[in-house]
Amino acid sequence: MKNAKITRKITQGVYVLTTKGGGCIVDAVSRASAGEQPLFTVAVAKTNHSHKLLEENEKFALSVLGEVTDPEIIETFGFKCSKDCDKFEKVETEEVEGVPVLKESLGYIVCEKVDAIDMETHTLYVGRMVEADVLDDKKPMSYAYYQEHKADLTKKTTEQGKTAWVCTACGYVYYGDEVPEDYKCPLCGLGKKYFKKKED
Ligand SMILES: Cc1cc2nc3c(=O)[nH]c(=O)nc-3n(C[C@H](O)[C@H](O)[C@H](O)COP(=O)(O)O)c2cc1C
Repeated sequence: MKNAKITRKITQGVYVLTTKGGGCIVDAVSRASAGEQPLFTVAVAKTNHSHKLLEENEKFALSVLGEVTDPEIIETFGFKCSKDCDKFEKVETEEVEGVPVLKESLGYIVCEKVDAIDMETHTLYVGRMVEADVLDDKKPMSYAYYQEHKADLTKKTTEQGKTAWVCTACGYVYYGDEVPEDYKCPLCGLGKKYFKKKED
């Protein structure tokens, strides 16, 4: 690979994927068809607890994050595991079609799962839109914006004094004293040896 950092410029949005029981931040989202009820795809790492929850649930939602987003949301949904905490405890949600969606978002799309395609490290979930609403008209956060501003967007986590380990392929940041031996980057699937300590 001459320089895999170019993948950071394939920029979509940043969303909170939710389903009953939890969810996580995702950027690997695409609209895959048109019409009144288009299909959307979302690639979810098999190592994420949200993957297990999506296997069990028929519906999921994507809440669209704005450029101005409370770092608490990114920290909770992007760096914690739904297995270890109740991600909805500190974040205000409303139930739509039985799925919690984030009130602090630009809006949401609720999908009914119609397919799940194996993608090696990830599963590509295909969902048909069954409900959608706009809650705010501000600028959506792109993945490129997240990459440029992640120091501020993840302030809370870094302030906790944990070491930041950056995936040299995709830029994902793991926070902790050490990257665990069997850790796989939830974005690109690469292992521990690809993570370099972030020097301030
Ligand atoms: C900006 C950003 C984008 C992310 N995109 C994805 C993604 O597209 N797919 C995915 O499976 N995980 C993605 N993640 C990682 C998950 O959000 C993260 O691993 C989360 O802690 C998993 O939580 P869970 O174990 O409760 O599912 C992303 C994280 C961040 C911060």
